[in-house]
Amino acid sequence: MTAALQVRNLSAEYSTSTGVVRAVHDVSFELRRGETLGLIGESGCGKTTIGQALLNNLEAPGRIAGGQVMLGDIDLLSLSGKALRRTRWDRIAMVPQSAMHALNPVYRVGDQIAEAIELHTSATHQAALARARELLDMVGVDPGRARDYPHQFSGGMRQRVAIAMALSCEPEVLICDEATTGLDVLTEAQVIGALRDMQRAFELSIIMISHDLHMIGRVSDRIAIMYAGRLVEVAPAEDVRTDPRHPYTQGLLSAVPALTAEPQHLEPIPGLVPDLRHLPPGCRFAPRCPFAIDECDHDIPPLIETVPGAQGDRRLVACIRDGDLVGKQSA
Ligand SMILES: Nc1ncnc2c1ncn2[C@@H]1O[C@H](COP(=O)(O)OP(=O)(O)OP(=O)(O)O)[C@@H](O)[C@H]1O
Ligand SMILES: [Mg+2]
Repeated sequence: MTAALQVRNLSAEYSTSTGVVRAVHDVSFELRRGETLGLIGESGCGKTTIGQALLNNLEAPGRIAGGQVMLGDIDLLSLSGKALRRTRWDRIAMVPQSAMHALNPVYRVGDQIAEAIELHTSATHQAALARARELLDMVGVDPGRARDYPHQFSGGMRQRVAIAMALSCEPEVLICDEATTGLDVLTEAQVIGALRDMQRAFELSIIMISHDLHMIGRVSDRIAIMYAGRLVEVAPAEDVRTDPRHPYTQGLLSAVPALTAEPQHLEPIPGLVPDLRHLPPGCRFAPRCPFAIDECDHDIPPLIETVPGAQGDRRLVACIRDGDLVGKQSA
């Protein structure tokens, strides 16, 4: 089965007065058809940059430094102008990190969604508006509210509107950047429920970007874990939870409380994320890693296949100590 999206050796950077921020470095992964892939990592590790790079939508001072983003046999990074604009909404769309960014404060939400439809299809304004109301209904917003302005919606409702907007041209791939961050847990569950409904209705493949490990663990089929601009592990969600392989993934799991009634010992990861302008030559996690050896400081470890997990699905890890540590890592 072909992947919905195949990302190969993607790099992206920002040129600043204090140096080049290497926000995404040599990232490769596939998004399978119909799956939800979680992309997780600490603030500033490059998640939003990946999302924007996947849409070939990085704004200056950001730029793609290399790689391919294959949507079927089209490399999105080779497109420009009209072809790019059409592909962006028709085939791949993004719900940006703040829903407010997706919505123009001075237009009624129904008109905004309708406008996106009109721009990308031959629909008349009336037909586009009718479709906008239908989409709002599908994400759980009363279609009567199509005449309201963004500021008249609560945070959760605004997220739903932003999702309806992103789905206005029925893309195959949806990237949700922190779609539920800042929402209370019940509202979060409702927004996720709306996304699931839309995933079924549109046969969507979704990339869910978040720093919330619990949420990502619940909604994702597979999870890609990012550290300082690189992927360190990609595995089925269940394997990440029960048998994380990369020391950073293990650190992340030990640093967040599990949703149980039991009191737990939480262990924050010591040290700080590296400055993306001055990266260490080898593994970027080595300075904080309890298992690091001298070799870890020499070369960047490639993301390669490790032992299969309980489900037998492929999983990848970027750690030269992976083989040595099997069965020895702290639980
Ligand atoms: N416009 C910009 N100019 C310069 N540097 C930038 C710019 N946008 C992002 N960066 C830098 O690129 C790196 C990655 O940022 P990015 O926003 O992709 O991270 P993130 O993982 O999405 O973080 P968060 O969880 O806080 O949303 C950070 O070091 C950030 O400071
Ligand atoms: Mg972000």
